[in-house]
Amino acid sequence: MEPTLTSIDVRNFTHDDAAEIRQTLLDVHADAYADRADDPFVQRFPWFVDHWSSHPGFSCVIGYDGSEPIGYAYGASAKPGREWWREHLNPAPEKARTFHVSELMVRPKWRKRGHSERLHRALLAVRRDDLAALLVDVEHPKVQALYEAWGYRKVGERQPFPDSPLYAVMLAELPLAL
Ligand SMILES: CC(C)(COP(=O)(O)OP(=O)(O)OC[C@H]1O[C@@H](n2cnc3c(N)ncnc32)[C@H](O)[C@@H]1OP(=O)(O)O)[C@@H](O)C(=O)NCCC(=O)NCCS
Repeated sequence: MEPTLTSIDVRNFTHDDAAEIRQTLLDVHADAYADRADDPFVQRFPWFVDHWSSHPGFSCVIGYDGSEPIGYAYGASAKPGREWWREHLNPAPEKARTFHVSELMVRPKWRKRGHSERLHRALLAVRRDDLAALLVDVEHPKVQALYEAWGYRKVGERQPFPDSPLYAVMLAELPLAL
């Protein structure tokens, strides 16, 4: 299918919109992760949504095809000194204000059209941070390759929860190259 970037309307949200967008975030997640619905870690997603959206530095973008949400990206500014990357980089970069990208997903029907990159760029476009950091399951090398194409590099590995996957820690300097 030819890439199509124009038909998706991308809207920005903040912590103040958390209650309004909560159900949309859960519904899109249920569709995007339908193949892993039995995974207890995936089932804990509502807790993560509430945890991240309660952060005052929360930013979220949701893509809409008409009135239909097709995917989203969200994250929050990192607490200085508590960034995921810190244990992997010594010395720390001089400019270290970090935005943690927590979630990026596109519903199956809308994949393979470049929407994930557009959502990710739109999320970071409103930020004034020096770095973006995210975690990607080490068993998903194609997703990691996607992030590398956007400017991220792997700086280490971590497993934040006993029942979570092992993740690659990915770091990108901002602003992203065009
Ligand atoms: C990751 C995602 C946003 C990328 O969307 P996209 O830009 O439309 O790109 P695609 O869906 O074609 O994904 C790119 C490649 O990664 C693979 N991939 C995507 N999600 C994957 C997953 N959860 N596990 C394993 N491989 C995955 C795809 O199969 C594809 O490989 P292919 O080209 O050989 O088919 C979308 O696939 C998605 O929502 N996946 C499920 C949620 C997820 O894994 N999010 C990333 C968390 S770090």
